[in-house]
Amino acid sequence: MRILFIGDIVGSPGRQIVRDRLADIVAQRQIDLVIANGENSASGFGITPKIADDLLQNGIDVLTGGNHSWDRKEVLEYMPHQPRLLRPGNFPEGSPGSGLYIGAAKNGVKYAILNLQGRIFLPAIDDPFRKADAELAKLPADVAFVLVDMHAETTSEKIALGWYLDGRVTAVVGTHTHVTTADEQVLTQGTAFITDVGMTGPHDGVIGMDRQGIIKRFLDGLPARFDVASGDVQMNCVLIETDDSGPRNSAGRLRARSIERLRLRSD
Ligand SMILES: [Fe+2]
Ligand SMILES: [Fe+2]
Repeated sequence: MRILFIGDIVGSPGRQIVRDRLADIVAQRQIDLVIANGENSASGFGITPKIADDLLQNGIDVLTGGNHSWDRKEVLEYMPHQPRLLRPGNFPEGSPGSGLYIGAAKNGVKYAILNLQGRIFLPAIDDPFRKADAELAKLPADVAFVLVDMHAETTSEKIALGWYLDGRVTAVVGTHTHVTTADEQVLTQGTAFITDVGMTGPHDGVIGMDRQGIIKRFLDGLPARFDVASGDVQMNCVLIETDDSGPRNSAGRLRARSIERLRLRSD
């Protein structure tokens, strides 16, 4: 089984490269399931119902989120009606939406996607480690593939969660920093891991936003409105392949055979 995870989609340039390139990769690499982090897909801040509908109708099976999940207020009412749009599961009980989605991939394999958010240099929310334990304990036994999007600022918190879940889930991928890390690997108990998948959007700015505004903010410290950058649009993803015939992990789920970084550039 092959799963593509697309790093944080930023603004219309990010959405455009996904529209241009996704169908070809899915066909060429025989991908069974596509997941993307969509927390910045609306002009860099949040996601709207219209954008979510569009992404979910055009090749993305599940959208994950993060600290920007709530930036567009209209999504609060939409989220409970669209189970394929996740937000971090460790937000306080009663927050709109869910951090977990269970579905069936094109090849019939039942899968679960779990979205979590770190707590270092981010708002104080519930413990993502214990939330992962609780959500995994509730999964039906026939769920064969489990991927966790750990949306966090620090490398250490993401790496720690990767090892914490090694052998219990098929993959743990990090998002949020918008900078790809070169540490993709399959951990010793068969969990594919990368600290950060990186960003899908313009790379000639500062983590997707226009660099002049960000530099000015660092110089004068004044509040400012940031615009999405424009040039060097990239789609940063990881392709995870499972070992379908090998032994399952200790939770009875598929192990990963490989994880590969993919960087596509717009022409
Ligand atoms: Fe992001
Ligand atoms: Fe984020």
